[in-house]
Amino acid sequence: MFSELKPLPTDPILGLMAAYKQDDNPNKIDLGVGVYKDEQGATPVLKAVKKAEAFRLENETTKSYIGLAGNLDFCTKMEQLLLSDSHTTLLANRVRTAQTPGGTGSLRVAAEFIKRCNKDATVWVTTPTWANHISLFEAAGLTVKEYPYYDYENKGLLFDEMIDTLKQVPKGDVVLVHACCHNPSGMDLNAEQWQIFADLAKEVGFTPLVDIAYQGFGTSLDEDANGLRLLAQTVEEMIICSSCSKNFGLYRERIGACSIISKDAANADVANSVLLSVVRSIYSMPPAHGADIVNTILSSDELTQQWHQELAEMRDRINGLRSLVKDSLEQRNTGHDFSFIERQHGMFSFLGINKAQIDRLREEYSIYIVGSSRVNVAGISHSNIDYFADAVASVLK
Ligand code: LMR
Repeated sequence: MFSELKPLPTDPILGLMAAYKQDDNPNKIDLGVGVYKDEQGATPVLKAVKKAEAFRLENETTKSYIGLAGNLDFCTKMEQLLLSDSHTTLLANRVRTAQTPGGTGSLRVAAEFIKRCNKDATVWVTTPTWANHISLFEAAGLTVKEYPYYDYENKGLLFDEMIDTLKQVPKGDVVLVHACCHNPSGMDLNAEQWQIFADLAKEVGFTPLVDIAYQGFGTSLDEDANGLRLLAQTVEEMIICSSCSKNFGLYRERIGACSIISKDAANADVANSVLLSVVRSIYSMPPAHGADIVNTILSSDELTQQWHQELAEMRDRINGLRSLVKDSLEQRNTGHDFSFIERQHGMFSFLGINKAQIDRLREEYSIYIVGSSRVNVAGISHSNIDYFADAVASVLK
C-alpha cells in the first residue's frame, strides 16, 4: 500500500527552517519561520513562563486526563484576554471555549465544527493568507475560496475589492479574517474597516472566523483585539481561533484555543457539545502543560505584569526593527520605496522582491526568506542589518 505513495514537496515555511539549520555560513540569517528572536538571534523562554513552570513542578498533583475542553480556568482566562472581561457576549454567557493543541489545532477543530454545522460551507480566506490555512481546511473536506486583501502594487489593502467580493458570499459560508498582524502581509484593517466588515457579516449572514495568533505583537493586547471585539458585538455567531505560541513564546508546547460564540446561552451549550465531540474524534484531549502555564501567569497579578512587560519588549523590538530595516534599505538608494515596512504590523512584511532575487539571497548570502518574499522582521538584529541591507541592495541592482 505504501509503495503507491508519491513524495510531496516539503512545507514552504518548515522546509526553509530545516535548510537554514543545515547551512554552515556563519553570516546566515533566518527570516523564514514566524518565531520571535532577540538581538542574539535566540528565542528564549519568557521569565514569566519559567516562574509558572517552576510553580507547576512544585504543585502539580496528578497526570490524570484533563478532559475534552482542557483546562477550564485557562479557557475562561483566554475568553477574557480575547474579548475583555465585560464583553457583552461573555455577560450573556454566549461563549464556549476548548483548549487546543496550538493555533493550528484550533483551526482544525474549527474546520471540523464548521463541517458539522454545514458540510457544504465554503471557507473564504484572504489573498494571500498563511500558507497552511488552505490545506488545513481542504484536509477537513471543506471548499476554500479567496477574497482580495493585500494590494501588492501599493503595499496596502484592496478593501473595496474585498467588500465587493464578500457581498457575494452565500449565507452559511465562513469568512476567515486575521485579527491583527496579518500573516503574511503585516497589513491590518483599521477601526472603520472592521466596522464595515462587521456590518457586512451581519447583513450578508456569513459566519466570521477570526484567527488571532499575534495578540500583543502589533500595538497592544487590547488594541490588537479591538476588531475582533467589535465584530463579536455585532454578529450573532462567530468562531475565534487563538494561539499562545507567539505572545507567550510557548511555540513547542502547542497551546491555543477554539472559542465559539453563539446567539444565546442555550445555543452555546448545544454548540459546545458539538465542539467537544469534534475534539474527542480528533485527539480526545489536549495536553496539559501549556494551558497550565498560561493559566498560572494570568491568575497572578505579578506574573501577568511581568508577561505584559516581556510582551511589550518583544513588540517594541519588532517595531524598532521595522524602522531600522526601512531606513537601512532606503540608505542603499535601491530606487525602491520601503516605507510600507513601518506602516505594517507584527513580524511579517513582503519585501516585494521576485523569486530569482529570493533565490540569490539564499544561495549567495545564506539569507532565508519565504518564496512569497515574506520576511520575519524579528530575524534582523543590529549586528546583521548591514549584511542584510547590502545583500538586498545587491540583488535589486
Ligand atoms: C509562520 O507562519 O511562519 C508560523 O505560523 C509557523 C508555521 O507553522 O508556519
